[in-house]
Amino acid sequence: MFQVSGEGMLMVTARAPTNIAVIKYWGKRDESLILPINDSISVTLDPDHLCTTTTVAVSPNFESDRMWLNGKEISLSGGRYQSCLKEIRQQAGDVIDENKGICIKGEDWQKLHVHIASYNNFPTAAGLASSAAGFACLVYALSKLMNVKEQYELSAIARQGSGSACRSLYGGFVKWAMGNDVNGSDSIAIQLARETHWSDLVILIAVVSSHQKEISSTTGMRESVETSELLLQRSQNIVPKRIKQMEEAIRNRDFTTFAKLTSADSNQFHAVCLDTSPPIFYMNNTSHRIINCIERWNQSEGTPQVSYTFDAGPNAVMFAPNRKVASLLLQRLLFYFPPLPGDDLSSFVIGDQSILQEAG
Ligand code: DP6
Repeated sequence: MFQVSGEGMLMVTARAPTNIAVIKYWGKRDESLILPINDSISVTLDPDHLCTTTTVAVSPNFESDRMWLNGKEISLSGGRYQSCLKEIRQQAGDVIDENKGICIKGEDWQKLHVHIASYNNFPTAAGLASSAAGFACLVYALSKLMNVKEQYELSAIARQGSGSACRSLYGGFVKWAMGNDVNGSDSIAIQLARETHWSDLVILIAVVSSHQKEISSTTGMRESVETSELLLQRSQNIVPKRIKQMEEAIRNRDFTTFAKLTSADSNQFHAVCLDTSPPIFYMNNTSHRIINCIERWNQSEGTPQVSYTFDAGPNAVMFAPNRKVASLLLQRLLFYFPPLPGDDLSSFVIGDQSILQEAG
């Protein structure tokens, strides 16, 4: 039974931030369930800057499930959307509000269709983890619409949309445990520390290019699993140690260890991309110049002042231990990358304020 007053439509809007991995996920052991070959750790960003906002609506008048991304309709026929919708519908509960004339039983959700409208406030698929924020937001919004009780299962559902999405369901520092189960029930995200745990830490993002990447993470990591020996070494012998060290560094707010591990893991991930056949290049010249600039600074001081990490794209995510160092970093970046016409370093996002340098 479905009864709803007014326009006959029930709606929920949610917002989810993106996350940036400091120990990277790269490679799956199960492609359809999206089970990774190693644990990973990320920092969830402030939702005011890089986030997805999604509205989900249900109405007896909807004839099919439909979705619009940034105002353009996209197909929901892909396995990932279907997996998320199916899993959420299976967990759906009763939604009953007599005052509003709403009465949807758990089993009704199997027959009802949803419409989904999603917006990213940052470039889609440019290596800023748009799919992470997107699927986390979709799963969360649907779970609220359909009154899913078991919130702890949401990360396992979001994971089936996009692996890194499971980490965006929590704020602060988050670990995605690879798990052992063949059905993926223990491949879930766990919050290591809340947002407030390390409030001095500043994250600065340099948008080097907002163009869509040529090779998606999904394809890239599949090719790496098939061809890179370094990836096997990394997942079996290197990442397990790094995960322990990173957990400890986060617990103790030990910036030196955090910074060294973050940059090293990013560099190893891109080395795996190079070790893939054919090689994958996600970073560009500007990314390399940013790395050089930071490494030279760190070396001249004898200890890491800031660290950097790059996902599957050329944009730099940098970490500073406090706002003072972050503003020194910004000064350096503006000195080496003045916002001149033709420069492809177009914008910086720092901590809780956005500093946009239009490249002309
Ligand atoms: C480089 O989560 O986008 O950002 O699971 O195939 O959707 P799929 O891949 P995705 O991969 C993200 C890879 C990464 C590293 C990370 O976020 O850990």
